[in-house]
Amino acid sequence: MSSSKTLVGPIDEDVLRFTAGKDPQLDVALLDADCIGTAAHVTMLQSLPLKPALLSAAERDAVVTALVEIMRLGRRGQFHITLSDQDVHLAVERMLTQRLGDVGKRIHTARSRNDQVAVDMRLFVKEQLLGTFDELLDLSGALLSFARRHKMWPMVGRTHMQPAMPSSVGVWASAHAESLLDDALVLRNAYELNDRSPLGSAAGYGVPLPIDRKLTARLLGFSGPIHNVLYASNTRGKCESIVLSALSQIMLSLSRLAEDVILYSMPEFGYFQLPPELCTGSSIMPQKKNPDVLELVRAKTSRVLAGTFAVTSILNSLPGGYNRDLQEVKEPAMEGVAATRSCLRILSRLMKALRADKPALTAAFKPDVYAADRALELVSEGRPFREAYEEVRNNLESLRPYDSAQAIARKQHYGAPGGLDLAVAAGRTRETKEFAGRERRRYYGAISKLLGVRYPHLA
Ligand code: ARG
Repeated sequence: MSSSKTLVGPIDEDVLRFTAGKDPQLDVALLDADCIGTAAHVTMLQSLPLKPALLSAAERDAVVTALVEIMRLGRRGQFHITLSDQDVHLAVERMLTQRLGDVGKRIHTARSRNDQVAVDMRLFVKEQLLGTFDELLDLSGALLSFARRHKMWPMVGRTHMQPAMPSSVGVWASAHAESLLDDALVLRNAYELNDRSPLGSAAGYGVPLPIDRKLTARLLGFSGPIHNVLYASNTRGKCESIVLSALSQIMLSLSRLAEDVILYSMPEFGYFQLPPELCTGSSIMPQKKNPDVLELVRAKTSRVLAGTFAVTSILNSLPGGYNRDLQEVKEPAMEGVAATRSCLRILSRLMKALRADKPALTAAFKPDVYAADRALELVSEGRPFREAYEEVRNNLESLRPYDSAQAIARKQHYGAPGGLDLAVAAGRTRETKEFAGRERRRYYGAISKLLGVRYPHLA
């Protein structure tokens, strides 16, 4: 039996491989966050009025400069986590000690890896969500502009997938946009819950040193620290689960959009034409232009939902305080944000290039689509609705076709085809954009100040 020397003592080789799991690969994505967390921690340690001081101002500066150097290595693909490092935290500590000697050995004063991984995930998620807001708004913007361009184009409204009532492309496209804007609201809640600092909980029970948790929270651009140290530790997994639930809502909106577009671009419908550059061919059938992109959006939705379930299942019955089970929430969380963002981006491109076919849309209006309209016409002549309904139902074969454009123009009330006020969604888009912009400036401003260089460029 062989064991490996690690910063935290010898570990049996098999145990090391098993317990490190995918961390050496996954944690590379946490490099920036880990360095930023350490920069805040050493800045706070240096500020404590202790004698002897834990770190001098010059030592603090040397650590931060070395951290920025390590982040630059990461930018060039030259940062590697070895198996004996186990994770990003010990890899960064090893590199700091290699570069700075004894000072590197002091940085872990009054913190634990539980602290580090919790703060890393929150910083990582925060940056990812800021990107997600932009991408979501780009797609909802594309849907709104599609709605604007085809606002009064007739489109059969369906229930049970069967033709139901006259509707419009404007209603169809802006319904998808409004769904995403609601999801942005859910995401904003998740963002705000994520925006609190767990740092300083240490192993979950605090430390007998007067560390300043409010200072580290401020340095990291968080809205504040999570108060109770044990709860701060227990939010690991809970936070990821909340974020994944919000992302699941986005994905459910996207999969519905994808399914609609797949259906309505089938030759049997022909309402929409997929941009050929976003389709893929077949290895045997020369004529094929397949909607693979949209199909993968459906499948990725299932995977994000599965990841959400994986995280909540790991949390179920987990006792309080750190447990290694929590390491396993990292992968579904990382995959969830990556999948959601890639789907948002590809669907934006698709919606910007999607074409609608007015003759095909109009040709789908068969007389029975107007059955309810006809009954309501009789109501306007004074007939009780149930009587009018019965009369139309008994004479369906003699329903005369209406003009589809006129039929949708007659639905003038709030939110109906002729009363669609796209400015409502545009206003919500603006408001969410302002929120994301404000948060972005606050976060990147705080981190740039902490590191003494412009983040994320590190110039
Ligand atoms: N890689 C670990 C995780 O993700 C870091 C924390 C390890 N802490 C511990 N007490 N073993 O959970």
